[in-house]
Amino acid sequence: MSYTPNPKRYDAMEYRRCGRSGLLLPAVSLGLWHNFGHVDILENCRNILHVAFDAGITHFDLANNYGPPPGSAEENFGRILRQDFHSYRDQLIISSKAGYYMWEGPYGDWGSKKYLVSSLDQSLQRMGLDYVDIFYHHRPDPNTPLEETMSALDLIVRQGKALYVGLSNYQAPEAAKALAILRELGTPCLIHQPKYSMFERWVEGGLLDRLEKEGVGCIPFSPLAQGLLTNKYLKGIPEDSRAAKPTGFLKEDQVTPEVVSKIKRLNELAIKRDQTLAQMALAWILKDKRITSVLIGVSKPEQVTDSLQCFRNTWFEKEELDTIEAILK
Ligand SMILES: NC(=O)c1ccc[n+]([C@@H]2O[C@H](COP(=O)([O-])OP(=O)(O)OC[C@H]3O[C@@H](n4cnc5c(N)ncnc54)[C@H](OP(=O)(O)O)[C@@H]3O)[C@@H](O)[C@H]2O)c1
Repeated sequence: MSYTPNPKRYDAMEYRRCGRSGLLLPAVSLGLWHNFGHVDILENCRNILHVAFDAGITHFDLANNYGPPPGSAEENFGRILRQDFHSYRDQLIISSKAGYYMWEGPYGDWGSKKYLVSSLDQSLQRMGLDYVDIFYHHRPDPNTPLEETMSALDLIVRQGKALYVGLSNYQAPEAAKALAILRELGTPCLIHQPKYSMFERWVEGGLLDRLEKEGVGCIPFSPLAQGLLTNKYLKGIPEDSRAAKPTGFLKEDQVTPEVVSKIKRLNELAIKRDQTLAQMALAWILKDKRITSVLIGVSKPEQVTDSLQCFRNTWFEKEELDTIEAILK
């Protein structure tokens, strides 16, 4: 069956400016870390991408190692792009990354220029693209000079293989150094991708302020704490959940009684707000104007639809915020 996008797809989505750049990103973006590998069902991947694009999600986030096996999410995404989205390339923001282990030998991991340039070439080939819109260094490398890693990002942009560059998992002080080097090289950093959710608050300790000051966007990943901040683990671990899957990064032992007790109380508040917990958890991040976009994952198309209802209420009364803080303590 051929795919025709919803002609009204841009009406309902909010687009936010990414830092002080010219680029607007959807307030909710979709990541392909889980559920898009060769272990997954391709038709489900395809349906998820259709529902997302139909709802105005223009930004899809990948990395060299997404799968499993590593690389297979980019291959599947490339296949679906060719099949359904080839005439919409100019309406899409596609990102990839390198920084974690990808291939054997000394050149398939961390942050050398050799690794970053080779890895992006491989990613482009897997996706069948001439360029990605955003290329990230996936995590800081303590053994490679920051100047080398940043000059690799600069080179990649000058080669036309990426339009913009980003950092991921950099703490505030090392991010500040990297931003200064990139600015000096003439390739300012577009965006930072940190882990941020009600359960993971480290970015509040300086990174968000730094990014705002420097005019760099912020796209938090795992805003639902890999599914913990939803109503799915209230009564045990469902069979089709990430925690139950052998390939999932969320492990059963992370669903502790303490976590479940917090989720239950948060869920009660969400119900009072007439939201699902997933919607409230996303709204709680989006209330901060320093956030450009929240980067969600999904295992089913219906989860995209459910999560996007977060826009119906992104306002929190002070009392609600205090209740959330008391629960999270
Ligand atoms: N830069 C990095 O180092 C890094 C690291 C991790 C992730 N990321 C990026 O961030 C993206 C998102 O990460 P994530 O997948 O961990 O995000 P997440 O949104 O915190 O968790 C996604 C999971 O939550 C559950 N879910 C989503 N919507 C739901 C809903 N409405 N109701 C009930 N359950 C729902 C699903 O779990 P089930 O599968 O159980 O249904 C889904 O797989 C990744 O795809 C990747 O692009 C980047």
